[in-house]
Amino acid sequence: MVIRINFFVGGNWKMNGNKESLGELISTLNTASLHDQTEVVCGAPSIYLGFARSSLDPRIGVAAQNCYKVAKGAFTGEISPAMIKDCGVDWVILGHSERRHVFGESDELIGQKVAHALESDLGVIACIGEKLEEREAGTTEEVVYAQTQVIAENVKDWSKVVLAYEPVWAIGTGKTATPEQAQEVHEKLRAWLRANVSGDVADSLRIIYGGSVTAANCKELAAQGDVDGFLVGGASLKPEFVDIINARA
Ligand code: PGA
Repeated sequence: MVIRINFFVGGNWKMNGNKESLGELISTLNTASLHDQTEVVCGAPSIYLGFARSSLDPRIGVAAQNCYKVAKGAFTGEISPAMIKDCGVDWVILGHSERRHVFGESDELIGQKVAHALESDLGVIACIGEKLEEREAGTTEEVVYAQTQVIAENVKDWSKVVLAYEPVWAIGTGKTATPEQAQEVHEKLRAWLRANVSGDVADSLRIIYGGSVTAANCKELAAQGDVDGFLVGGASLKPEFVDIINARA
């Protein structure tokens, strides 16, 4: 039984925009006609979380792009899930490839962050994905299973988790995975979840694809049986994000 009813489209604004440009984007989203069975969440820079939450229509969710693994303390520059919740924000993106590979976050740290964010009642968009050399070496499955394993060890309630498969070679490169490549990994991840977590989780967890998703390629990707949505970087800052949200409409 497939119970993944809602499509999920996240926008990851990364470290882009200002109040003026993001305000324009927010007006476009607020007035757009959005497919009602698609859950939409915008990942705002932490300093703009309150701004994004107060300006976006309530039907659109907001996500932080990172958080720390404890509620408070002497951790200069970090933000906690409790603070994110306090800004009225319900989601956090964790384990993004830029956190892993630019800022050197380990699987272990990402796992701890996932556990604490969920305990703090945030929804988590947990990101995994192989690098180009790993794909070329034929180790894609090994890499994404190992990353998913650490996430799984830290999840008690899967209803608040979305798994984002984002091949590192496709992020910000304009080189999208083909629908077949995305479907193949998503299907294998679902089988891994069935074998290692549970059938219920395998059936219900939304596995979304990220990496150079655009209005031009989203429909074909969205038509794949195991692609339950997207995490969108560059195109989420443009009006075409609306077309991506409506990919399954
Ligand atoms: P991109 O980024 O759509 O610009 O490739 C995706 C992501 O980093 O989530």
